[in-house]
This record gives sequence, structure tokens and C-alpha cells, in this order.
Amino acid sequence: MRARDEYGPDGPPTKKRLASPVDGDVGEAARRLRERGFGRPMAAVILGSGLSAFSEGLGERLELPYSDVPGTPAPSIEGHGGALIQGLLGGRRVLVYSGRVHYYEGRSYEDVTWQVRLAAALGAETLVITNAAGGIDPGFEVGDIMLIVDQISTVTGRWRPRVRQTFRMAAAYSPGLVELAGREALANGLRVRRGVYMGSLGPSYETPAEIAFARAAGAHAVGMSTVAEVQTAHLLGLPVLGLSLITNVPLPGRFETTTHAEVLEAGRRGAAAMVSLVAAVLHKL
Ligand code: HPA
Repeated sequence: MRARDEYGPDGPPTKKRLASPVDGDVGEAARRLRERGFGRPMAAVILGSGLSAFSEGLGERLELPYSDVPGTPAPSIEGHGGALIQGLLGGRRVLVYSGRVHYYEGRSYEDVTWQVRLAAALGAETLVITNAAGGIDPGFEVGDIMLIVDQISTVTGRWRPRVRQTFRMAAAYSPGLVELAGREALANGLRVRRGVYMGSLGPSYETPAEIAFARAAGAHAVGMSTVAEVQTAHLLGLPVLGLSLITNVPLPGRFETTTHAEVLEAGRRGAAAMVSLVAAVLHKL
């Protein structure tokens, strides 16, 4: 029976890794990394704005600037370091991307999803995506961590010439990983929320009308990354844990403006909690 008939018009769910056309061009980067001692990671972690402290806690670190990994797009904005780091956590290999690229830097879908495709090419079993986000839920406070349960992909439909298939997005954020992260947060005395992340193309922060729209649409947080990466991870069969650090709560009466400096500062302050949660979850995988 063909996959279409089994699963409906959107094709198969991505329980096992698909041989996808988006895999191809990361091969050279994967080869270079293997030559330099990078191996199959149990998890790849993409660090958002101001969260680079995570990689400092890893043992036996190997670090390569993105410029030494063929084809790897380098970030151009403050707060994104631009290095690939392999290290040990609880004796197991973790691959960390310190810095990512965004659409608002003028990058393509292929660039934005590069890290995910490279992680899949290296055989990563899990993807942890962290980001900084604005709180849309009026109950959120700066410094909260949101476990992402679903997303609204306002970037859907952007240019992505090499993805020639439709695919389902149900459970793209692994419910099992959300549960695990919730348990680990509780065990470590960290307050977390669960919610829906809305992707914005940026570079502008949201207008009051856009914030009202995001709330009405069912979003709890909004940010300028992650959604395309998670689409790609799901397409490639990589289970995802997504964590947002709420760096501002841009609701009427709560806040007038959001600046990049403020997002970075809140990121620095909230980083410790985020870092310990990511480490706690990875220890349990
Ligand atoms: N909006 C979009 N992206 C963000 C925000 C925000 O309020 N805060 C941090 N990243």
C-alpha cells in the first residue's frame, strides 16, 4: 500500500527518518566534522540569544567556529556566537550550536534549517531548540521558561525549493519530551509553563495589533526563530524539545517597547535556569 493511502493526503508521519532531499548538501560539513573528531551525538542543542553558557558545562569540549565547517551559515547579529561545540554530558556526546541564523538577517530557508539538517546527517537522536521569546500569555513573567507544545508557523510558505513534499506536523514537539522536561523542572525547582510558540519573520518586534492577533490566534509566546527548524526536524524524523525563555512580556500596560539589548539582558539572567533544565533533561534521555 502506498504511504498516501495509509496516512492520508499529507503522507506518512515521521516516525522513522525519511531519506529527504534536504539531507544532501550537509554531507561535506558532516565529513569535515567527523575528520575533526565530531561523532554521533545523542542530542543536538540549538542555543538561542544569550544562552551560550550551556556549552561551558560540557566535558572534553571540541569547538569549531562555523567558518571552519563548509557551508555553515554564520550569524551576523549580537548575542549569537557562531561556533559548533561537541562535549560530554553525563558521559554522552552532545552537539551544541552556539548561535543560529534568522530570516531577518536575509537568510534563506535552507540556511535557517542548516543546523537541523546537519544534526540529522550526523545521526543526532534528539533535537533541543531553545529561543528567546516575547510572552503573549498575560500570565507570563520575564524569566519564565515555556515548554513548547505546538507552533504557529507564520513563516510557512516561504521559499524552500528542495522540500518537495507535504508533511504532517502533529506532535512535532515530542509529547514525551515535554512530559520529561516538565518532570525535570519540578524535580529541580524550576517553574515552567506550557504553550504555543508563534513564529514571526522579524526583524520588528510585534505591534500592539500583532500582539492582540497572536493572543487571539492561540499563541502564548512569539519569537523570530524555531518554526522552520522544527518543520525540518519533523520532516527528518528528529524528535524535538523546544524551550522558550520569556525575555519580555509586551502586553498593553505591561511594557512599552522591546529592544534587542533588553532581550539579551533577560536572556543572561534567565540562562542559568534554562541551562540546568536542558542538562537535567539530557541526563535522563
Ligand atoms: N517578539 C519577537 N521575538 C522576540 C521577542 C518578542 O517580543 N522577544 C524575544 N524575541
